[in-house]
Amino acid sequence: MKLQGKTIVVTGAARGIGQEYAVALATEGASIVACDVSDCTETVQRVEAAGGQVLALKVDVADAASTQAMAGQAIERFGRIDGLINNAALYGQLKSSKFEQIPESEWDAAMTVNVKGIWNASKAVVPAMREAGGGSIVNITSLAATYGMPFRLHYTTSKAAVIGMTRGMARELGKDLIRVNAVAPAAVMTEGTQAFFAGKVEKALDAIKGSQAIQRNLVPADLAGTILYLVSDASCFVTGQTLSVDGGTVMH
Ligand SMILES: NC(=O)c1ccc[n+]([C@@H]2O[C@H](COP(=O)([O-])OP(=O)(O)OC[C@H]3O[C@@H](n4cnc5c(N)ncnc54)[C@H](O)[C@@H]3O)[C@@H](O)[C@H]2O)c1
Repeated sequence: MKLQGKTIVVTGAARGIGQEYAVALATEGASIVACDVSDCTETVQRVEAAGGQVLALKVDVADAASTQAMAGQAIERFGRIDGLINNAALYGQLKSSKFEQIPESEWDAAMTVNVKGIWNASKAVVPAMREAGGGSIVNITSLAATYGMPFRLHYTTSKAAVIGMTRGMARELGKDLIRVNAVAPAAVMTEGTQAFFAGKVEKALDAIKGSQAIQRNLVPADLAGTILYLVSDASCFVTGQTLSVDGGTVMH
């Protein structure tokens, strides 16, 4: 129970990998604030079945007022915020196309949710982390950015921005003992991934596996271990880093 007494906010927690993070963190003793624009009932059921405590909130990370309200409700329920997993993103919703044909509205939506959303959620929780004497923010980027994926340039660019934001925030917040790191996963089978590689998901996962040092596909448990490390005191001197959890595709 490495996270006993800590409160960790997970955005995009209604389904997919965000739900897996919430369950894994609760299993290690953390109280969870599960945030999503969608309903988090399934996440609540899984966290409670694992013996954890969870507050589910409807939160749109693109809306600063919504993230501020989230931080207030989290403090009201659990009294503190120690961690934030910035996982919410537009992913499967973004269509594949040549970069010059991406609709401007889709480009703007990707930047608003995937980049500004992290800024909003981080701004909302940092005062509580300062009060707690420190904290850990983990931003979810992607192999799309570390590799440089074509034909989804809005997604690739938004996830590359997350890496820069992680580094800048880490330097600003180090004096407050708030660490900021990023995790860059390869592809995991989720509803988002099925939509992202519409109709070609098996082929895409095979191609990704083929580029790895370790010849199997990523599973959520591989990511949960890295997230647990980054929010726990085991990584107390690690900040500003991007950890690739991709089986050895990109070697920094
Ligand atoms: N699945 C993968 O293979 C993979 C690989 C690399 C990176 N990632 C990243 O991991 C994260 C999760 O991926 P996933 O496959 O579980 O995605 P997903 O699409 O299955 O789930 C994303 C969740 O975010 C929520 N969300 C979207 N916009 C939101 C908003 N404005 N405010 C709050 N919540 C919002 C959605 O409702 C959804 O529950 C994303 O950041 C994605 O870019 C995923």
